[in-house]
Formats: sequence, structure tokens, C-alpha cells
Amino acid sequence: MDNRFYRRKVEIIFPFGNNCTIQNVLDISSIQFYDGTLLQLLPIQSKHMKYLPYLIGLLTILIIFPACQNDDNNGEEMEEEIDTSILSEYLDLPETPFNYADIPIPTHISNPPVIESDNTPAANPITDYGATLGRVLFYDPMLSANNTISCSSCHLQEFGFSDPESFSIGFEGGTTPRNSMGLANARFYENGRFFWDERAATLEDQVLLPIQDHIEMGMELDDLTTKLAATEYYPVLFRLAFGEGDITSEKISLALSQFVRSIVSFDSKFDQALAGTTGPPPEVIPGFTPQEQLGHDLFHSPVTNCSNCHSTTLQIGREATNNGLDVVYADNGLGEVTGNPADDGKFKVPSLRNVALTGPFMHDGRFKSLTDVIVHYNSGIAPHPNLDNRLRLPSGDPRHMSLDAEDIAALVAFLNTLTDEGLKTDEKYSDPFR
Ligand code: HEC
Ligand code: HEC
Repeated sequence: MDNRFYRRKVEIIFPFGNNCTIQNVLDISSIQFYDGTLLQLLPIQSKHMKYLPYLIGLLTILIIFPACQNDDNNGEEMEEEIDTSILSEYLDLPETPFNYADIPIPTHISNPPVIESDNTPAANPITDYGATLGRVLFYDPMLSANNTISCSSCHLQEFGFSDPESFSIGFEGGTTPRNSMGLANARFYENGRFFWDERAATLEDQVLLPIQDHIEMGMELDDLTTKLAATEYYPVLFRLAFGEGDITSEKISLALSQFVRSIVSFDSKFDQALAGTTGPPPEVIPGFTPQEQLGHDLFHSPVTNCSNCHSTTLQIGREATNNGLDVVYADNGLGEVTGNPADDGKFKVPSLRNVALTGPFMHDGRFKSLTDVIVHYNSGIAPHPNLDNRLRLPSGDPRHMSLDAEDIAALVAFLNTLTDEGLKTDEKYSDPFR
């Protein structure tokens, strides 16, 4: 059995600095510069074939000439083999990596505006090896100071990558001040900000914070790169993902972000009902029970306004808002970050996909069940000065939805149709350690 992966890749080091790689030397279709610029090469039509020798000549000059100027560095072809045999001693990874880079997004999801809300930056597209490295990092307790806690300790796959406890336990037994968040479809939060209070401007920033957090993992990034470099498997995984070079905290951030963004979930009962459709969901959802249908209708009705905040076919928000949990918040969320009282009590509006798995609910895990959540919206909305207008009556008072027990049960039944059972065990997102 051949335990080697081949990289068909040329690295070009230009003297003026904008280095680039060419994927698949034999069939060049595009050149990706490290600053994100993508140079598309047009297919050559047969009537232009007479220009082919000139084109090849031009490309040769482009590729070989600058590389020759730098023949003391790594500017030559890297069609190399990476010996991956050591990986199988520690990790149960497939010989060909799982597909993370090109997961098909079904039509009912790929419609705008969902697809436009993809927060993947041009500088960090998901690759199969990058996300594979991210997966290993995500499950590795070595990321904590005393090797006890991994990302997955607080983001458990079977609970939609959240924690069934209201607060999570960190590396020295301390508890987090907020409830852990589910990670599926985090990629589609439009403003691309992360955490309940949206304090991380990008996912690339976010993923390094729990590692250094003094309650969560307590690690210095410099110590972490040294620790990873001393293992047998990380140097191989980083090489597969990023080519030659040191293990850096930037690469850790890129890989973890790729893995988190790869966690998408499109196979709930709701998705199965909408499969193949485009545009807004039909009024009558095929295969729904009368109760689920009633819940769907209520969710999208002006009585509740749920879908005005938890919008699109991913039931996801666009920016932090105040949903009237308290008159005075113990934790002011976004307000703590900006210092602006107008932001007090505003929190990220998470996707409700897999919400039946991610309880307890809200930033402090105050509600144990989905019924508790609906009861809050029905009759418990607090008149906070920043309460969002979508939860107010025209008079400005908090909404009272006048839902009866049957309506509440129906809304819960609808939320339960958003669970993707396959996600709980999907191997590509699971613990790879032996
Ligand atoms: C000790 C528990 C704990 C550990 C370990 C932990 N997290 Fe978290 N995670 C949380 C909590 C709690 C929050 C919410 C914190 C907040 O909003 O202030 C969170 C939030 C997040 C979010 C934000 C999701 C969103 O939609 O905004 C991401 C992404 C995330 N964690 C990824 C990770 C990664 C990657 C790791 C490992 C490097 C990790 N977490 C380690 C508890 C943990
Ligand atoms: C004004 C916007 C808004 C409206 C309308 C709204 N929500 Fe929310 N929802 C939020 C915000 C903000 C949060 C997070 C609040 C927090 O944690 O402090 C949230 C949280 C939730 C959660 C918990 C998610 C989790 O992972 O903990 C559920 C479930 C939920 N909403 C369901 C609903 C339902 C059902 C309706 C309609 C009855 C509704 N929401 C109406 C803004 C809204």
C-alpha cells in the first residue's frame, strides 16, 4: 500500500515579492497569488493554436526566469512526496482526505441571500488537507496548557458542537462565563463576527482566543507551536496543508477556521422536504405533519416575527440584537465590548439549525428546553430600552404573542425538524485520534 501523497504544485518566488503557486502543473487553469489575486488563464481555442508556441514561451519565461533568480531558495518545483506513514500510528485518517473544500450546497440553501452571507475570506479558502489539520487540532487536548481540554470538550459533535451544560469546564476546572455555541453553519453568519457578543471580527481571530483564554485552555501561542513541532504527526499534517515552513500560530488559525467553516448541515427533515426547490419555501411543506406545518406557519407569521430575526432557510441572524431576556442584564453582551449603552443586552442571533441538540439556550444557558424558550417569547419579553422593534407592539410595549399550549408545542415541533441527525456522527467531523 502506498502511504504517500503527491503534490503537483509549483511555487514561484518573484523578486518583487508577490509570490504565487500554480496548482497542477500539467493543466494550468489559474494562478493564485499569495495576496489573493486570482489570474484565470482562458482555454485555448483551436483556431488560436498557432499561438500556442508563443504562449508556452511566455509562460516559461514567467515561471522559470524569476525562479532562476532565486535558485538558492525554495523557488523550484515541489513535486515531492510526503511520507505520511507516521500518521496512522496516532490518527485514523482516510488515505485520500475527506471532501471539505467542495461540499455541495443544496439549491434551497445556495439561493441568495444565504450564499452571499458566506464569511469565508478569499485568503483562507477551505482545502481538504487544511480542514483535516483543523480537525486534528480541534480534537487535540495538547492545545491546552495541561493537555486536558480540546475544543471538542466544549463543542461536542453529538450536541451540534455545543455543550449540554450551561457553562463549560476549562483546563483548570474553572467555568466559562457563557454557554458554549453550536458551530454548524457558522460560516453563513453574514457579518462574519464571532462569539455571543461578536467581539471577534473574523473566525481566524476567534479560533486563537480559546487557546489563550485563561479559563478555557491557558496556552501561550509560542509554547503551542513548539509543542506541536515536537510531535511526530503535526509536522507532516502542516506540510500537507501548507507546504514547507515552520508551524506558526497563523497556520493554526487558518486550519482551525477551515475546519469550523467546513461544518455545514443541510440534511434535516426541513431540508429533505425542500430538496431541489429554489426560492422561498412553499407555504405547504411536503412531508410535514399538521403540527410541524402549524409551527412553520407561526414561525413565519407577524404574530411571532421569529423569521424576521432568524431568517433565510438557515434561520440565522445578521447582527446582534436584544431579545428582551432581562430589564437589567448581568452580562451586557455587545455593550461590554463597545462600551455604548445602546448596545447593552445585544447578542448574536445564532442559526436555529440543530437547535434541538444545542441546549440549554441563550448566551447564559438559562432555558433548559425549547418550550421554555417559546414561553419567554410568548409572555416573558422584558421591556429593556434596547429591545428590538420586532419584539415590540406598535405601542412600543413588549409583544405578547397569545400563543396557546398547542401553538407552543407546534413551534417546538417545527424547531425539531431542523435537526440533522447525520451530523451527530458524520466521520469527517469526528474525533480522529486512535
Ligand atoms: C472551555 C470550553 C471551551 C473550549 C475549550 C473552546 N470553546 Fe469555543 N466557545 C466556548 C464558549 C463558552 C463560547 C461562547 C463564548 C462567548 O461568546 O463569550 C464559545 C464560542 C466559540 C465560537 C463562536 C461561535 C459563533 O457562532 O460565534 C467558536 C467558532 C468556537 N468557540 C470555536 C472553538 C475552537 C476552535 C476551540 C478550540 C481552539 C474552542 N472553541 C474551544 C467554549 C469553549
Ligand atoms: C428581535 C430578534 C429576534 C426575534 C424576533 C426572535 N429571536 Fe430568537 N434569538 C434572538 C437573539 C438575539 C437570541 C440570542 C439571545 C441571547 O442569547 O442573549 C435568540 C436566541 C434564540 C434561541 C436560542 C438559541 C441558542 O442557541 O441558544 C432560540 C431557540 C430562539 N431564539 C427561537 C426564537 C423563536 C422561536 C422566535 C419566535 C417566537 C424568536 N426566536 C424570535 C433574536 C430574536
